[in-house]
Amino acid sequence: MMTTWPAPAKLNLFLYITGQRPDGYHTLQTLFQFLDYGDTLHIEPRHDGEIRLLTPIDGVPDADNLIVRAARMLMKRAAETGRLAAGSGADIAIDKRLPMGGGLGGGSSDAATVLVALNHLWRCNLRVDELAELGLTLGADVPVFVRGHAAFAEGVGEVLTPVNPPEKWYLVAHPGVSIPTPVIFKDPELPRNTPKRSIETLLKCEFGNDCEVIARKRFREVDAALSWLLEYAPSRLTGTGACVFSEFDTESAARQVLEQAPEWLNGFVARGVNLSPLAQAIAGQAELR
Ligand code: C5P
Repeated sequence: MMTTWPAPAKLNLFLYITGQRPDGYHTLQTLFQFLDYGDTLHIEPRHDGEIRLLTPIDGVPDADNLIVRAARMLMKRAAETGRLAAGSGADIAIDKRLPMGGGLGGGSSDAATVLVALNHLWRCNLRVDELAELGLTLGADVPVFVRGHAAFAEGVGEVLTPVNPPEKWYLVAHPGVSIPTPVIFKDPELPRNTPKRSIETLLKCEFGNDCEVIARKRFREVDAALSWLLEYAPSRLTGTGACVFSEFDTESAARQVLEQAPEWLNGFVARGVNLSPLAQAIAGQAELR
């Protein structure tokens, strides 16, 4: 039976870089919230042990695709610990709405949804902690999607404290460029020494993103998008970009601004949610059992 699972977008409502580890990874303080908007995965269990991606992405070999890597990783861990029924496999298809290199966590969210959904469908019963730890090896943002609650994140993004920021409406705009995460993190001019603050202090301060200055400087499309949005509402970069977002108290206020957007600026309006659509789906499945 084909099953359908959401892979929501995230926003970094703020993002500060507090240092760099010896392995090159940056230590962050960031606030993740989900959107009720994202990709949709269709998963049908197979009984011959095969993992098949029915919707390959141009230019990305299946073996590198995070969806396939997540499925294989779960299969391996569950098999090693005697929690995989013989022949467990899956056909997986994706309706992709989230842009790559957009700062919305699309690839990480797809991987997290595969881990959570297959753990459920294959009845492996891995704990959420174990799924989050597996997910971290696929990407720094995967654990928050696995856990499914808005969170204040530290470390490289994996030390998570659940929080409940206001669930605002957002206009998310794509400036038409894709920014690979390492391009921003490798930039010599990136601010890397923002002092650490407590979550209480951070929530009281105006929100910002340390990557924004670099994304604006290196990508004129990002600069143009932010300059346009800032005329209407408080607006920022999400993650390492390229998407930017403006916050509003109502859906209609967000839609009014989107309607006026110039042709070169594509966007969508979505609600910020503290319980991810994936967590809501899995809770619904548990009730059905
Ligand atoms: O999110 P992901 O783990 O895919 O990150 C891609 C790249 O971005 C890493 O290989 C690293 O160079 C950089 N990065 C970083 N600090 C982080 C997260 C990512 O330097 N906290």
